[in-house]
Amino acid sequence: MVLLVTGGCGFIGSNFIRYHLRAHPEDNIVNFDKLTYAGNPANLADLGTLSAYSFVRGDICDRKAVDSVVERHRVEGIINFAAETHVDRSITGPAVFMETNAGGTNVLLDVAREHGVQRFVQVSTDEVYGSLGPEGKFTEETPLHPNSPYAASKAAGDLLAGAYHHTYGLAVMITRCSNNYGPYQFPEKLIPLMIANAAGGKKLPVYGDGQNVRDWLHVGDHCVALDLALRKGKPGEVYNIGGGNEWKNLDLVKLLLSRMDRPESLIEFVKDRPGHDRRYAIDASKIARELGWGPAVSFETGLAETVEWYLANEGWRKTIESGEYREYYRKMYEDR
Ligand code: NAD
Ligand code: DAU
Repeated sequence: MVLLVTGGCGFIGSNFIRYHLRAHPEDNIVNFDKLTYAGNPANLADLGTLSAYSFVRGDICDRKAVDSVVERHRVEGIINFAAETHVDRSITGPAVFMETNAGGTNVLLDVAREHGVQRFVQVSTDEVYGSLGPEGKFTEETPLHPNSPYAASKAAGDLLAGAYHHTYGLAVMITRCSNNYGPYQFPEKLIPLMIANAAGGKKLPVYGDGQNVRDWLHVGDHCVALDLALRKGKPGEVYNIGGGNEWKNLDLVKLLLSRMDRPESLIEFVKDRPGHDRRYAIDASKIARELGWGPAVSFETGLAETVEWYLANEGWRKTIESGEYREYYRKMYEDR
């Protein structure tokens, strides 16, 4: 299969490409990424010059560019990771979230329809369901109730994806996953930020009372689930993906501090995120039953390896924090 991976220079996309090239060496991958602040080709530097992999810099909102890459590479499948993903940024600047997450998704769907692309995975999020009380879990039947501009823009993308299946018969599978952790996550997100701050002896900012709950899944387990959805998923279906691994933010931050042998006095309670969702929890029984998926990485092992990875890759983190990598790659691609 020739697979177009959009947003492949981000956290999950780069982990997916590495996984996919190992699991399916017969496939060709074209990585199409705008290289926003969150996209970093260094996340895939270890691939070198594999003939099965190519990179094209482009914006999913740019119809001409998407059309050209799909036609030129004779793309057969698309997996859409490209998105603006940080909830806090969506609160301070929502416009680009709608442009990319809704508008860009619409461009991809439409080009896929025109070119007869055979499989399309829309990588979505549990945040489209809104917030839970202390009990219950999100199923695929839970009504959409997005609370942040990020979640609303992802829900818009999901609705468009569903409509393209219903109206045009495009073979779209929508996945909704819980919070991922693992290597190459941009250090604005909770786990890499807390590891970086703890390592540097800085304060760890916990929003509100720290009692918000997230369901954490190792990124490698997410990649396996996405691969199953791509190959075996039923068109038009939604698949929830989650770790069955709920943590209150404060407990998770304390766990990280104890793993890193740092004092809890580094914790600083700060002003809460506006509209902060209280609890997410995923019922992943459908994907387990229908596609045979389940998480394989224990939180104990996955978190220990993740802490080690960020500590061992301080250079990666520092170029990201300084923004240095963006200048380097901007120049490299603009000079072409
Ligand atoms: P990320 O922010 O790390 O990476 C996003 C990537 O998309 C970057 O490489 C960026 O350059 C690229 N991109 C952004 N706008 C683009 C555009 N207009 N055209 C082309 N490329 C563009 O994101 P992530 O955490 O890897 O998330 C990937 C996907 O998974 C997103 O769709 C997100 O909604 C979804 N998701 C993430 C999580 C999580 O915990 N991180 C959980 C569930 C679902
Ligand atoms: O649930 C899936 C979603 O998980 C994805 O769709 C999003 O793209 C991804 O960013 C993530 O969203 P969250 O808002 O849950 O992730 P974040 O890492 O930003 O925050 C996790 C929790 O930690 C949340 O309750 C807010 C809190 N938090 C976050 C940061 C950055 C803090 O307390 N302090 C912080 O500094």
